[in-house]
Amino acid sequence: MTKSFPELSSKIILAPMADITNIAFRIMCKKYGASLVSTELLSANAISRENNAVLKLALFDKSEKPVSCQIFSQNTKNLLKAAKILENKGFDIIDINFGCPSKKIIEQGSGGALLKRKNKIAEIIKAVSSSIKIPLTAKIRSGFKNRINAVEIAKICEENGASAITIHARTVEQEYSGKADWKVIADVKKAVKIPVIGNGDVFNEKDAERMFKETSCDYIMIGRGAIGNPFIFKQINHYLKAGEIIKQTKEDKIKDYFEYIELAKKFNIFSIKDAKSKAQEFTKGLEGSVKLRRELNGVKEWVEIERLMKSLVM
Ligand SMILES: Cc1cc2nc3c(=O)[nH]c(=O)nc-3n(C[C@H](O)[C@H](O)[C@H](O)COP(=O)(O)O)c2cc1C
Repeated sequence: MTKSFPELSSKIILAPMADITNIAFRIMCKKYGASLVSTELLSANAISRENNAVLKLALFDKSEKPVSCQIFSQNTKNLLKAAKILENKGFDIIDINFGCPSKKIIEQGSGGALLKRKNKIAEIIKAVSSSIKIPLTAKIRSGFKNRINAVEIAKICEENGASAITIHARTVEQEYSGKADWKVIADVKKAVKIPVIGNGDVFNEKDAERMFKETSCDYIMIGRGAIGNPFIFKQINHYLKAGEIIKQTKEDKIKDYFEYIELAKKFNIFSIKDAKSKAQEFTKGLEGSVKLRRELNGVKEWVEIERLMKSLVM
């Protein structure tokens, strides 16, 4: 029997993003009102071998709950084994990636490559959903340039036990270029009864309002709009409730950056490389950020990054 997708506290969800949605970043997004957060895509093959480096990426904090773990593989047995391991670790949802366009993943026959193999998707969803007690979801793309098949794939996922489906409304070939075609999300919503999570090109309150209106999707998943900007969840939720647009001050943005760094240190994922890239992400568009980007080049010590970030608001 299909497990129901949980009732979430808001309509806005954080997208899984490699090298971005680590434990510290997810906690920040949750604090600002993301109703569901997810790990980045993790190799089910590695998890099934209990690979420590990958299992480290599957650590989460209680404050994140409900929390989803995204896995990829084309090997049903490994997906099943990994899903059980992750369920035992306390994840609330397992999500399978059927959309990643990266060459490395496609060459393994995983991610977006599986959208060409509907029987394999049926086999995977059936085997995994019937072996775990928590809901299983799938994240797909629209399909391929010559074959948009999201409706067909979404129906297969639903029939075989998926509890919800996310559609990133771009083709695999598009990767991240061009515009997302939200019509595909609307078509999927009409075709299935499970919750539909719309994804692609939502960067602000008005985009979110428009996606709900044009597609009738149940939830919206935000990716790039949240990078360096966990406050976006508060902005969109507030707008959907009160119709008002709220802004974050430069001081508060810098404060968020330091809060992220504190969390990264607390959970032992702090690195100079990440502190530098997050400094760029959290200050994007702010006055002084172009100069900061230049100055960060070649910086090797945290104290120096800290000084540069503080100088932006002094
Ligand atoms: C840096 C980055 C990393 C990503 N990593 C993942 C991933 O691990 N798993 C996944 O399903 N999608 C991944 N995506 C895709 C996003 O989840 C999302 O589907 C896509 O960015 C479209 O949403 P957006 O327009 O809100 O950014 C990634 C996207 C970006 C920009």
